[in-house]
Amino acid sequence: MERVIIDTDPGIDDAMAIFLAASAPDRISIEALITVNGNTDIDNATQNAFTILTICEREDIPVYKGRSKPLKREVRMCESSHGDDGLGNVKVNKGKIVLQKETAEEYMVRAARENKGILTLMPIGPLTNIAGAVLRDENFAKNIKRIVLMGGAEHCGNMSPTAEFNFWHDPEAAKIVFEAGFEEIIMVGLDVTRKAFMTPAMRELLYQINTPISRFIHQITRIYVDSYWNKLKNLGCELCDVLVSAFLIDESVLKIKEAFVEIETDGICCGTSVVYSVDIWTGKKKNCYVAYDLDVKTFFGLFFEKQFPAFKETAEALIEHEYRV
Ligand code: RIB
Ligand code: CA
Repeated sequence: MERVIIDTDPGIDDAMAIFLAASAPDRISIEALITVNGNTDIDNATQNAFTILTICEREDIPVYKGRSKPLKREVRMCESSHGDDGLGNVKVNKGKIVLQKETAEEYMVRAARENKGILTLMPIGPLTNIAGAVLRDENFAKNIKRIVLMGGAEHCGNMSPTAEFNFWHDPEAAKIVFEAGFEEIIMVGLDVTRKAFMTPAMRELLYQINTPISRFIHQITRIYVDSYWNKLKNLGCELCDVLVSAFLIDESVLKIKEAFVEIETDGICCGTSVVYSVDIWTGKKKNCYVAYDLDVKTFFGLFFEKQFPAFKETAEALIEHEYRV
């Protein structure tokens, strides 16, 4: 059982990651959601957090509002594949906003101090809030069990050929986090999320499963699929953040390796995570683990079984077909 604080910029794949995390209470106890500016502005992100919790009937989970802009730079606007509202612009009953009084950073610092070495941070957006907590409390990194994050990449990028959005959006924050001395950081980057590609047939199965969550995922991924077609002529969509939830449920979905990662904060490669595999670059001291391979059939099997158990066999047959070699 992992006690997890999810730091999120919902966000279509964020929503799917939260649904999956909430579907496995035997493996993940969601302590709180904290929101951050990233895919959308902080007010949308915070409203979306409540909407997501309402749809998965987990309004018991507290929500803390985080930072509205990166640590040291202005928001660099970019075309968002998540829609103007961050959740695909679909019409949905918005969740009632019942904000906690503490800010995200105040909450994280207090919770970590009160639960030394017990809490896991699950950032699936820019690392602004976590860097803010590191700056606020010199013991924060020591008080946290580990970080399992979606961000970065060793061999690719989505905001440039080398930079991934969560690190690109707030590179100074990412640099602070990787230099803060956390006991364990697991970086789930684009190298593996590229392989977690939901096909049109899988998306259609979500429609036919016809639960509030499956139908909502089908709706919000419309704009996401359009973005992958318009940009890359790929049919389907990449489930980035969802891999972090899957890893926390079953670590066998990913292969990870020891690495030293440093973050570029300037120039044409700003936001790039430079990954030194320590078995090659022997002079570098490990500061994290980087995911380098995905068991895609196990991942999608878990995605469907945990959330839609009645359709386990149907999903397994479809996954076998879609990912036959
Ligand atoms: O690069 C992918 C990341 O950027 C994901 O977290 C997605 O939600 C966006 O925030
Ligand atoms: Ca995200």
